[in-house]
Amino acid sequence: MEKQTITATDNRTGKNVELPLVASSHGAFGIDVRELYKGLDLLSFDPGFMSTASCRSAITYIDGDAGLLWYRGYPIEQLADHSSFLEVSYLLLAGELPNAAHLDRFREIITHHTMVHEGVLKFYQGFRHDAHPMAIMLGVVGALSAFYPDAMDVADPACRMTSAYRLIAKMPTLAAGAYKYLRGEPFIYPDDSLGYIENFLRMMFGLPATPYKINPVMVRAMETIFILHADHEQNASTSTVRLAGSSRVNPFATISAGISSLWGPAHGGANEAVLHMLKQIGDVKNIPQFIARAKDKNDSFRLMGFGHRVYKQYDPRARIIRKSCYDLLDDLDIRGNPLFKTALELERIALEDEYFVNRQLYPNVDFYSGIILKALGIDTSMFTVIFVLARTAGWIAQWMEMMAEPDQRIGRPRQIYVGQTQRDYLPLAER
Ligand code: ACO
Repeated sequence: MEKQTITATDNRTGKNVELPLVASSHGAFGIDVRELYKGLDLLSFDPGFMSTASCRSAITYIDGDAGLLWYRGYPIEQLADHSSFLEVSYLLLAGELPNAAHLDRFREIITHHTMVHEGVLKFYQGFRHDAHPMAIMLGVVGALSAFYPDAMDVADPACRMTSAYRLIAKMPTLAAGAYKYLRGEPFIYPDDSLGYIENFLRMMFGLPATPYKINPVMVRAMETIFILHADHEQNASTSTVRLAGSSRVNPFATISAGISSLWGPAHGGANEAVLHMLKQIGDVKNIPQFIARAKDKNDSFRLMGFGHRVYKQYDPRARIIRKSCYDLLDDLDIRGNPLFKTALELERIALEDEYFVNRQLYPNVDFYSGIILKALGIDTSMFTVIFVLARTAGWIAQWMEMMAEPDQRIGRPRQIYVGQTQRDYLPLAER
């Protein structure tokens, strides 16, 4: 087939270059702009990367206008209905759904790696008693670099795979450790007889003195949150993971960079911010005042949990989790609780209000995950940590995909310089 191109012309000089199109299997094609600089001495400029594809990827597909999300081609709705988080993690990493034997083996490997070195546990004691669990997470995950010197050989695919297993397996242990530290409770070691989610819940809520009773409603709600958050193509934290990893630093440092990026309220920190906002609103009668603030351009207040960079339709994850959220509030009979009442009324108003409708600002997945986690009695400061746990699968899959590229190179964006042109240094006395 003839190579497809578009022509870019510099109208100042009349010079032009042919730019090849980069084919996709579904959705928008890309334009390979590498010739722009060589041929025209021009750089592409796209703040916020609104129109820039930073890589080729076969992992996750999103169509924000149609409200589609697929992992390896499988619609998120089907995975949320039928799958488990470990099965989804396998799918993201391996590219195919596991058969029963593969899944058993994967479970076994992950279970084998859930313990952390005792030395890692000592790190927790160094944090202030009220440290935010996300601060602890980015510290302890980065610190794993010091415990696995064999992980440094990122050029070796087998070594990368071992790191992938370790990260997916140890993340719940580390996260539960942060929670225990926050609460001043003793650290609970993993129990290999339990499933991934059950084990995490037990390590978080269990106490040495009393047997922990697993609540299936909680497990299912958590499993759904984990599946929905497992990957989301080239968002801020995943792009951070790819950029950090592109320097060939070890995967623990790489994932720690992703955790840092995820923490921000415009990204994964939104689920925690939703709860702070709901508390700040306090009562249904105060909602109009906050809606007015969200619309006011002179006020930095935004409705947390509303809007998305890519979805200009209802986020498909939000549609799924909305149902789980409503079911859970009914199951627990807490729809009348002032906090949840405020949330549901806010959702109703925002879905009808012209400002939000015109800007296609729908409630996003974090709006509902925040409400669910609160309904499950989890401390607000843990919400983004739970997002970290789920997204680790996607980050690792994206990192593995990038590292396996034959022409993998360090990421190094350029800039349009707008500073001073060359000038001479003036001695201090002359300034
Ligand atoms: N509340 C009020 N107004 C909003 C909101 C909001 N939550 N989000 C966007 N807007 C407005 C903007 O003011 C802007 O209005 P204008 O066109 O009149 O200037 C318009 O909608 C477009 O907003 P942008 O900032 O250009 O949208 P962008 O795509 O850059 O931002 C983002 C997306 C960051 C998610 C934004 O909607 C936001 O801040 N939402 C709240 C935080 C949040 O929930 N983040 C979670 C994202 S999902 C995730 O990470 C899993």
